[in-house]
Amino acid sequence: MKKGNMIIKNSSELVTCSGNKAKFGKEMGNINVISNGAVVIEDGIIKDVGNTEDILKKYDETKYEVIDAKDKCVLPGFVDSHTHFIFGGYRAEEFSWRLRGDSYMEIMNRGGGIVNSVTGTRNATKEELFDLGKKRLNSMLKFGVTTVEGKSGYGLDYETEIKQLEVMKELDEEHPIDICRTFLGAHAVPNEYKGRTDEYIDFILEKVLPKVAEDKLADFFDVFCEKGVFSVEESRKMFLKAKEYNMKLKIHADEIVELGGAELAAELGMVSADHLLHASDKGIKDMAEKGVVSTLLPTTAFCLKEPFAKGRFMIDNGCAVALATDFNPGSGFTNSIPLMFALATIYMNMSIEEAITAMTLNGAAAIDRADEVGSIDIGKKGDIVILEYPSYKFLPYHTGVNIVEKVIKNGVLVHNN
Ligand code: NIG
Ligand code: FE
Repeated sequence: MKKGNMIIKNSSELVTCSGNKAKFGKEMGNINVISNGAVVIEDGIIKDVGNTEDILKKYDETKYEVIDAKDKCVLPGFVDSHTHFIFGGYRAEEFSWRLRGDSYMEIMNRGGGIVNSVTGTRNATKEELFDLGKKRLNSMLKFGVTTVEGKSGYGLDYETEIKQLEVMKELDEEHPIDICRTFLGAHAVPNEYKGRTDEYIDFILEKVLPKVAEDKLADFFDVFCEKGVFSVEESRKMFLKAKEYNMKLKIHADEIVELGGAELAAELGMVSADHLLHASDKGIKDMAEKGVVSTLLPTTAFCLKEPFAKGRFMIDNGCAVALATDFNPGSGFTNSIPLMFALATIYMNMSIEEAITAMTLNGAAAIDRADEVGSIDIGKKGDIVILEYPSYKFLPYHTGVNIVEKVIKNGVLVHNN
């Protein structure tokens, strides 16, 4: 991937989100804004940050590509830390059933849902998945996303789980967006194992996990821990095995019912627990105490007509909250960052500053990359978003509209609107 030398200067607000680990509780409101700010990137890495006058005294502009960000707000590239963007086929029909009142679980129990996308993904060739993935990454980039997490979990057999992870590995090499890969073989029990959950778990743990770990196809291991999918006990068994393979852990927890996924995440010291719409107060406090990032996915709650996760309560109780889109073909077919921003600030009572931390530094922490992305700090990747407006406050104010004007990845301009 190309690495550039760049100076971005005269920014009305340069929001650094400074830090190299997750911000918890009140700390999330501290995003560090420099007025008339500038940032210097050399060989793709941030070399200096500060006031434009001070920076231009130290560096010779003629040696860099220069972007004048006068009257524009500059932010770190967004980190979308929870998506399922590699899949074949669509489920528009199911969406229309949900609009007339069917629930996500009812549709799943009558043979739709995740296993529906499994058929589409098994039938897709590697090339088809690559092309679809690339198209979706291009769309994310326009919203300012410079790092994304993507999960397998629409294969649920050896070949297709590996195929999904390999496609993401290839896309990571070809596309400007960095991709963090998660193995989600425990996303559902496929039809051929119906009624034999134990056997499916053994298959995942004995046949697929060793290959994924050995070939370093994924950084994270994830489970859909939910009533009617995988229980807390089944999930714990899988996570403990994944730990033996040195995989980092994240969990789909307490999405539809309160099951104890948040508590399990705290018990096992996971990097993140995601969804959490129905997490118990105790589970939330346990996560805060153990430093597990709470990843909230408001567009999913919105599309499922479910209540939003208690973001305000979590922050007030010392949690590190991240926000992500959960882009997937079923529960929320959207990668809209502006919609997520609006929901988090208008309906979940997060402040604008907290939402920004949740989409940058805490998103990075949710995939254990807070030391390399998620803030404009010396030594981190030169991943930058420039808004067409002078203040970060326009993010939710220009409601639901994409106001990202330029995106820079590793010091290279990769999107210019
Ligand atoms: O995060 N809840 C489980 N997994 C996805 C949805 C997958 C699907 O419906 O295809 C989620 O919402
Ligand atoms: Fe998900």
